[in-house]
Amino acid sequence: AMESGVARKPITNWEAYELELKERIGMDQKLMTRITNQAKKNPKTVVFTEADHYKILKAAQTVSEQKIAKPILLGNRAQINAIIQEHNLNLQDCMIVDPFEETDKREQFAKLLFEKRQRKGLTLSDSRALMRDRNYFGSMLLEVGEADVLISGLTRDYSKTILPALQVIGVEEGINKVAGMYIVLNKKEPFFFADTTVNVNPTADELVDIIGLTARTVRFFDTEPRVAMLSFSNFGSVRGDIPNKAAEAVRKAKLRYPDLLLDGEMQANTALNRDLLREHYPFSELAEKGANTLIFPTLTSGNIAYKVLQEIGGAETIGPVLMGMRKPVHILQLGSSIRDIENMVAIAVVDAQNLKNQHI
Ligand code: ACO
Repeated sequence: AMESGVARKPITNWEAYELELKERIGMDQKLMTRITNQAKKNPKTVVFTEADHYKILKAAQTVSEQKIAKPILLGNRAQINAIIQEHNLNLQDCMIVDPFEETDKREQFAKLLFEKRQRKGLTLSDSRALMRDRNYFGSMLLEVGEADVLISGLTRDYSKTILPALQVIGVEEGINKVAGMYIVLNKKEPFFFADTTVNVNPTADELVDIIGLTARTVRFFDTEPRVAMLSFSNFGSVRGDIPNKAAEAVRKAKLRYPDLLLDGEMQANTALNRDLLREHYPFSELAEKGANTLIFPTLTSGNIAYKVLQEIGGAETIGPVLMGMRKPVHILQLGSSIRDIENMVAIAVVDAQNLKNQHI
């Protein structure tokens, strides 16, 4: 949409723009290289619900060419083909699925969703209407096993995109709440932040779940988690709702995950600065190495922290990695770059590969 006043120059050359971003950031890519190589070992079928967007199609082409994933392009066939032609993309190996052409499948999926949710207030005609929404249709492709992974969220608000997946796919066994993790790359080592996207004000018990989910996910990436439960206080220095809840979460999580390197509650600089830890809190389990995994006490703190790092901290952020879904669904941040999408696909494929041996 045109804004009044000075017209902003549109970015037409996404690739040059992304290259510039990459050079400017120049972050340690070892982790992403490892994940990409792992993904290539057993590529999975990935359904993109917003395939009528250049960024998605461009990312789909890359992951298909690199044999990281087998894309299913969901959307309006004519629109998708027009973008492919305009940008001369090579997506011949990818299946295009247009839900509006799929009358039989829509009906089949509507009945399945109705079966699932008829005691949650959903009527069959509601269900039929929902199948015109690509997030429902795409989630159903995953549900019936026609796809292994769902990637969505480029163009719609996160909470609106996650809801269909929660309703259709739901959480994995033994998990109460899903949560979102970001990988934050600087020049030294990867850091892991959670929950950055889902639970607005998790309880102590929910934080225990988030700690477990996050530690498991970090291990999927061949990295040993060193977890700090964050607060604005250090080890009881201040009392209050947030410090108390964080301390309770640590106590409970230590019982539930005895092998996990975990401590808190603590401030973020305490968690990340070994000298500070050693000097003032030598008793801490993290004193030797410091933390690489940060658990935030509220969504406000986690979401704001990663976005500040992303925009002015000079870090590259990868995610959000949605943890705890029964099948791999990952919701992009609104307006993600092509590179963000490619990274998410590689992570989602590794997530799908790990599906059978998930345990916390
Ligand atoms: N984990 C698993 N299931 C959940 C969760 C969760 N965290 N939250 C809700 N659900 C389930 C419910 O159990 C329910 O299932 P059911 O219908 O089968 O019984 C279903 O999802 C819907 O529940 P509601 O209570 O209607 O949904 P709610 O209003 O709680 O919405 C949502 C859930 C959308 C995740 C909400 O918590 C939310 O908006 N969170 C914040 C998201 C957000 O705005 N993030 C920040 C931006 S993200 C970014 O910056 C990239």
